[in-house]
Amino acid sequence: MTNHAHGGTLINRELTGEARENALKEAVGLPSIQLSAWALSDLELIGIGGFSPLTGFLKEKDYISVVEKARLADGTIWSIPITLSLTEEEREAVTPGTKAALAAEDGTIFGTIDVEEVYEVDQEKEAAEVYGTTEAEHAGVAKLYERSSWYAGGEITLLNRPDHSRFEDYYMDPAETRNMFNSLGWKTIVGFQTRNPVHRAHEYIQKCALEAVDGLLLNPLVGETKSDDVSADVRMESYEVILENYYPKDRTRLVIYPAAMRYAGPREAVLHALVRKNYGCTHFIVGRDHAGVGDYYGTYEAQEYIDQFEAELGIQIFKFEHAFFCTECENMASAKTCPHDKQYHVHLSGTKVREMLRNGEKPPKQFSRPEVAEVLIRGLQEPVR
Ligand code: ADX
Repeated sequence: MTNHAHGGTLINRELTGEARENALKEAVGLPSIQLSAWALSDLELIGIGGFSPLTGFLKEKDYISVVEKARLADGTIWSIPITLSLTEEEREAVTPGTKAALAAEDGTIFGTIDVEEVYEVDQEKEAAEVYGTTEAEHAGVAKLYERSSWYAGGEITLLNRPDHSRFEDYYMDPAETRNMFNSLGWKTIVGFQTRNPVHRAHEYIQKCALEAVDGLLLNPLVGETKSDDVSADVRMESYEVILENYYPKDRTRLVIYPAAMRYAGPREAVLHALVRKNYGCTHFIVGRDHAGVGDYYGTYEAQEYIDQFEAELGIQIFKFEHAFFCTECENMASAKTCPHDKQYHVHLSGTKVREMLRNGEKPPKQFSRPEVAEVLIRGLQEPVR
């Protein structure tokens, strides 16, 4: 199966070597825009091609089209607006035609933007369309409302990458994962998005998919998540132990996805699929309540939503029903494959599992592999890094 980058070309907006040195020198004298954690990971993903075909932060026409139709103005599917917000002071210093430095709070310059447009948006509308709710209690909507409603649009250049040294062995660019799949001889690859430790249900749906393709890319999101999600450091350790003990080494690869989590459910499922296509996957898993939070989305809403784009996505979606261990089947199963009553199904809420782990208690092995539980117990008891 040939698989092209979304929009046709894998984007690379990063400068290296002397060109980078010169651009960094120039950037010091430019007006500066401060990057939030979200915007920094967006800059990185645009720069390395994860967000192909985007070459910068959205301009107004694309922004409106993405919000209203989940498509760029030229019709290409794009479900989440990738935008750069400006404070009032930044808005005074940055007008269309300005080149600006993109810097973190500590002043480190990560890139530049050629500002083509500065525009004001209706954030409630963005929330309603993209997140399906205007409630500030929603973790993603809360982040959206924290930002100003003035956005700058224009092409970016990536000059420095955020520090991923703790996960160095697992950091790859989309161009690199594509080459890796080629050299492994994998023609079909299923991508798996997660912001959680891999529990038995995750393992089950990954392995069901792996029965049908050549390889599995375990691609956990390690950018900003909400504070009660398990930290990326602890999760990475849990992925290492589960891969080591329960997965075939020649058919699985662990690579981080350096994005921030938006919790936008259906809309984010589409983004997640497109990004994995850019990383070279041919298939992508969407299970129950993909990228959901609280009760904001229906269990299969993401699957239903993504259906309308299926013919155009360029990546095949593997949809899975809610999976669980059934004590009568003595196996992992779902409503599709298990005839037994609910009382035989091992169900644990996230809250319950966290409570058990915090108390140093392992959840049943039908729910979580003991090696994973051990890592989580240790991780939850250490001070948060
Ligand atoms: S997500 O926010 O990254 O989607 P999570 O890490 O929990 O959250 O889920 C990763 C993937 O596994 C998603 O596609 C999700 O729908 C799926 N998933 C999680 N738990 C189950 C389950 N019990 N049954 C089926 N699919 C599941």
